[in-house]
Amino acid sequence: MKAIIYTRYGSPDVLTLAEIEKPVPQPHQVLVKVRAVAVNAADWHLMRADPFLVRLTNGFFGPKNQVLGLDIAGEVEAVGRDVTTFQPGDAVFGEIGHGGFAEYACVQAKSLLLKPANLSFEEAAALPVSALTALQALRKGGIQPGHQVLINGASGGVGTFAIQIAKQLGAEVTAVCSSGKLELARALGADHLIDYRQENFTRSGRRYDLILAVNGYHPLWAYKRALKPQGVYMVAGGTMGQIFQALLFGSLFTLGSQQKMGGMLAEMNQDDLALIKGWVEAGQVRPVMDKIYPSLADVPEAIRYIEQGSAKGKIVVRVGEE
Ligand SMILES: NC(=O)c1ccc[n+]([C@@H]2O[C@H](COP(=O)([O-])OP(=O)(O)OC[C@H]3O[C@@H](n4cnc5c(N)ncnc54)[C@H](OP(=O)(O)O)[C@@H]3O)[C@@H](O)[C@H]2O)c1
Repeated sequence: MKAIIYTRYGSPDVLTLAEIEKPVPQPHQVLVKVRAVAVNAADWHLMRADPFLVRLTNGFFGPKNQVLGLDIAGEVEAVGRDVTTFQPGDAVFGEIGHGGFAEYACVQAKSLLLKPANLSFEEAAALPVSALTALQALRKGGIQPGHQVLINGASGGVGTFAIQIAKQLGAEVTAVCSSGKLELARALGADHLIDYRQENFTRSGRRYDLILAVNGYHPLWAYKRALKPQGVYMVAGGTMGQIFQALLFGSLFTLGSQQKMGGMLAEMNQDDLALIKGWVEAGQVRPVMDKIYPSLADVPEAIRYIEQGSAKGKIVVRVGEE
């Protein structure tokens, strides 16, 4: 089968289209004919071993998993002997950790759900990592109906889901993005819009119940200034400085106060993905598609695009129509 592989860390130049062995499903696995795979920031972090810490879990001298690609949608080709939840022909989607940049992928059955009927394979592949991150970050941030929630970085893969999910959870949403993306944020349901190139929301005097940092950078003390006395600051992404400050000093910064500051790492959770699927099938949440590349050979270009850091929603690669 065709797959995009890498055997050493580096730029998208290390990615090559190769012919490799088609996997065989183990007892609890499903063999999926991949129809679409999403590109996530995590893919380039693993490709470049950036930050360096990635080498501790992904292989010190080189990648232990040579096929990247976390989010797929496709058709069940075969199932392992202990799988009863899926059968050949089923349209499925899910977050699989790695192996998605290929014509076929063997996936733990518990990492998959039946594809939402009202989404294409490309749209379904855009859901898992970004929507799960948005949901789990808002939940860890203690979101409640009526809360004033600010999303710093509301126009990328995670940000566009965070607006919609925060609305589903009853919040009043302030979306922070750049001028060309404000209308998108409003169309996704944001109540208030801030153009970060025109205004620094941490200096506006307004305070929030929950600040979700998805992109960009502000120092911890600046975020603290924009929190209500019992407010929560939750980091999902952005610069490494923003992420590490929250992880290392968040609890120190809130000593003696009722505020909370910290970070989160999303995980594949079938119940959470089912909740998101329900909102999608009810037409309340939708993936925002920035680019759909026509073939597996376009993966390096798709990664170069996401690395520019200005995607407007999700980037997906179609597979199997080469
Ligand atoms: N914690 C986890 O488990 C987890 C899971 C997934 C992703 N992440 C992290 O979350 C972050 C977002 O991921 P993603 O997939 O949503 O990335 P993405 O789609 O590549 O984000 C691109 C968006 O960021 C916006 N942006 C860039 N700089 C900004 C700034 N200073 N302020 C506000 N918006 C800004 C860009 O708009 P403009 O060009 O208009 O600025 C663009 O719309 C990444 O750091 C990723 O590594 C973490």
